[in-house]
Amino acid sequence: MKLAIRGDLLDVVTPPAAEAGLDHPPPGVRWRPAHWLLIEDGRIAAIQTEAPDPEWTREDRSGQLILPGFIDTHVHAPQLDVIASYGTELLDWLNRYTFPAERAWAEPAVAAAGSARFLDQLLAHGSTAALVFPTVHKGSVDALFSAAEQRGMRLITGKCLMDRHAPDGLRDTAQDAERDTLDLLQRWRGRGRLAYAHTVRFAPTSSEAQLALAGELLAAHPGSYLQTHVAENRAEVQWVRELFPSDRSYLGVYERHGLLGPRSTLAHGIWLDERDRAVLRDTQAVIAHSPTSNLFLGSGLFDWRGRAADGIRLSVASDVGGGVSLSMHKTLAAAYQMAALQGQRLDAFTLLHAATAGNAASLNLGHEIGRLEPGLMADLCAWRWSEPDSVLAHRLSIASSLHEQLFAWLMLGDERLLDGVWVAGIQRR
Ligand code: GUN
Ligand code: ZN
Repeated sequence: MKLAIRGDLLDVVTPPAAEAGLDHPPPGVRWRPAHWLLIEDGRIAAIQTEAPDPEWTREDRSGQLILPGFIDTHVHAPQLDVIASYGTELLDWLNRYTFPAERAWAEPAVAAAGSARFLDQLLAHGSTAALVFPTVHKGSVDALFSAAEQRGMRLITGKCLMDRHAPDGLRDTAQDAERDTLDLLQRWRGRGRLAYAHTVRFAPTSSEAQLALAGELLAAHPGSYLQTHVAENRAEVQWVRELFPSDRSYLGVYERHGLLGPRSTLAHGIWLDERDRAVLRDTQAVIAHSPTSNLFLGSGLFDWRGRAADGIRLSVASDVGGGVSLSMHKTLAAAYQMAALQGQRLDAFTLLHAATAGNAASLNLGHEIGRLEPGLMADLCAWRWSEPDSVLAHRLSIASSLHEQLFAWLMLGDERLLDGVWVAGIQRR
């Protein structure tokens, strides 16, 4: 399998320094227009200006933007059923919409159809890899892993642990959780491009025994990940304070159980104090910033620049279905606007880096995905710059720099501009 794709290659190795000018691509931004990207055995083999030998199958995408596939670092597969549900904040939203919808995934056929739909939609939005919440049901993990395997996707997930404060049909026990997790780990760990994430829904839905189990499992299985939520909403933080009166903070509950480390991703982290921020920095745990969710559920404003300056590792995520779109365009545009509300600027290169190389690094997968470079997996997308006669086409026509073009494209574009998706070199859309 030798495939060569021609187009305008763009990737961001490092985000620009604060003082960098944006009139020309700053160091760390690789803009390689009219280049050939050669793919062999699922990996990027070379990037060159010359046309390849005739033995290479050619795919001419001249004039299209070739980007690394986006990576979604926090998203809930079953929540396509509740996306855009009206009128509530987090705790009501969970009880009224989300928990009832997740119960349906107890049925293996529902989980299988839902997983296929979810992954096809991720691909249709240009995301080729993800860290995903399934449901509490073991079968939901099997469904997601097998759907990802069929599509060759880099997918990280694991059984959602929740043994209290959830309705019937959505609770496990610490014992069941251990047995199911060990079985799933044995069958799926290290298979193809799949990895296992111990998935604590959030502190309120796990007992002390289950939180302890999660810490033990994480320590006992190198290569596995941990995902959860933290400090998203003020009422949630207050509830955690009542449930865990002897812990210093919400984050402190996770810290006490050994859940914080360089393979841990915690969604949100809006309501953290100085001590929490130091703990995150020291443990190298990642906060997954989910701006459309934070706005939609009225959770609060995440201070991206502030947390980065604290030395905390960050990623960006859709958090569908609290978030309202799987689109990284929509996610990044919301991140920009949320920063703007706090008097800050996120340039287009920083935003693109976050959704690609930055998110890859947050999952310790920078050697595999997120950039266009020989040796990395050929997970990439071809995008049109605009539709004819659109506002975006007009705006691009008068832009005077790559940054101005890319910024308009990220703010005004969406998944309708996607024209090709390759996962490990195989075209999936
Ligand atoms: N906290 C606990 N569960 C959830 C969830 O499903 N979505 C969000 N946004 N926050 C949560
Ligand atoms: Zn979430």
